[in-house]
Amino acid sequence: MTKWAPLQAKYAAVADRPILDLFDATRAADFSVRADGMLFDYSKTNIDTETRAALIALTEGSGVAEKRTAMFAGEKINLTEGRAVLHVALRAGDDAVIKVDGRDVMPDVRRIRAACAAFARDVRSGAYAGQGGPITDVVNIGIGGSDLGPAMATLALAPFHDGPRCHFVSNVDGAHIHDTLRGLDPATTLVIVASKTFTTIETMTNADTAKRWMAQKVANPAAQFAAVSTAGDKTAAYGIDPARVFGFEDWVGGRYSMWGPIGLALMIAIGPEAFDQFLAGGRAMDDHFLTAPFSQNMPVMLALTGIWHNQLCGHTTRAVLPYDQRLSRLPAYLQQLEMESNGKRVAIDGSDLETHSGPVVWGEPGTNGQHAFYQLIHQGTRTVPCEFLVARRGHEPDLAHQHLLLVSNCLAQAEALLRGRSLDEARAIMAKKGLTGAELEKQARHRVFPGNRPSTVLAYDQLTPFVLGQIIALYEHRVFVEGVILGLNSFDQWGVELGKELALALQPVLEGTADTDGKDGSTAALVNFLRA
Ligand code: F6P
Repeated sequence: MTKWAPLQAKYAAVADRPILDLFDATRAADFSVRADGMLFDYSKTNIDTETRAALIALTEGSGVAEKRTAMFAGEKINLTEGRAVLHVALRAGDDAVIKVDGRDVMPDVRRIRAACAAFARDVRSGAYAGQGGPITDVVNIGIGGSDLGPAMATLALAPFHDGPRCHFVSNVDGAHIHDTLRGLDPATTLVIVASKTFTTIETMTNADTAKRWMAQKVANPAAQFAAVSTAGDKTAAYGIDPARVFGFEDWVGGRYSMWGPIGLALMIAIGPEAFDQFLAGGRAMDDHFLTAPFSQNMPVMLALTGIWHNQLCGHTTRAVLPYDQRLSRLPAYLQQLEMESNGKRVAIDGSDLETHSGPVVWGEPGTNGQHAFYQLIHQGTRTVPCEFLVARRGHEPDLAHQHLLLVSNCLAQAEALLRGRSLDEARAIMAKKGLTGAELEKQARHRVFPGNRPSTVLAYDQLTPFVLGQIIALYEHRVFVEGVILGLNSFDQWGVELGKELALALQPVLEGTADTDGKDGSTAALVNFLRA
């Protein structure tokens, strides 16, 4: 019998139970969690008191508390790479002491944080200028974790921008850098090359392109380059002045790195003080994660709804639906965070996982999604658990009526998924329209909503730097908890390697300097088509 058996039995017993029947006067309060002004409501799921107790027992039995202690203590829990996992150190408070191999890493964290802040202030004030005047535009060149976090957060915190414009280039498709640089002035642009390894081919290719672009107009392009990396030797070889190189250690995973120097573009956009608020929000969620009992612990309960829906109910995807336009890049950010972390088929000890790996994560902001894919969510044959996010207030007081419309749509969608519309209700609607007999019956069937589709809501006051910090740390810890329960290593990413190797080998084939020998028939035929 595996550790999953009690919950599998539980699911078999309640699979078709109407969630609506679970509601009594206290369910909404009992099946929600609060943390520093945020509310996570999971009452519209098929989790009842007994299921929750079993899920918490699974969490305890999986050693989540012990692993959590180990992570925060700097132990090397990333076993396949022999590394600590310490993104939490990047947002730790001034008095924190965190040791790796017996050495306190916090003095370095604080030193680099201060260096980033000083540089950000200089860029914002004009004390650091381009060769044609104060910096008007910052171009962050990076990919994956060196792009998605800062790009997502810079958009999310647009109301706090009071620095130069920030742009993000990631794709090796030349269209991306071409379209970004077009219209910018090389003499007033700062390029940040953000790459943990400083070897990623997309980033280094785009950096070379940016350097050539800058060289057309300025005498010393390297003087308008900064770098963020763990590889100081490589940034030096690239010709970037060490004064503008901001390092971090290998115990920060790429997709967990936006709290440190990888967030430099964001820091320049919103200023170091607002960035500190972002860190404070992350820290508040860390404190909550470390101290709240599991049943009141937001990351734990968010993780357990995920485990319930994916590993037990068998729903293979999870939709993230922010009713907050400025979080429109959150689903893409979470795709990397969740799928690169928990998309694994082998457990830490090298055995096969006992269950499925993490789900496919996808989504778009509401209300846009409503006019695109919600049809399938409401009436398709598969269930897609939905995770809504919504703020009490927007940043546009004169458009409060639009925010009200946004919130009402968010709550209405969650309600519609729960409640559905019965055949009788659909018949009554058709009868009102004057239909009768077979035609009424047929039309009514198309208008039935099965309902009983689970969703959760994360509600917060307003999308500020502090709240964004809470949200991102919440999801990071959710991924951690799910990963520990699944028994895998959430902090490596070997699955990205094979494609990189094959792409390198295909370059000479596409150039025509190597032949297609050894390639499968499809790849060889595509090479021939694209080469011609
Ligand atoms: O290819 C995947 C990956 O290694 C991610 O994990 C990482 O965030 C991204 O590439 C970028 O890596 P780097 O920051 O080293 O350029």
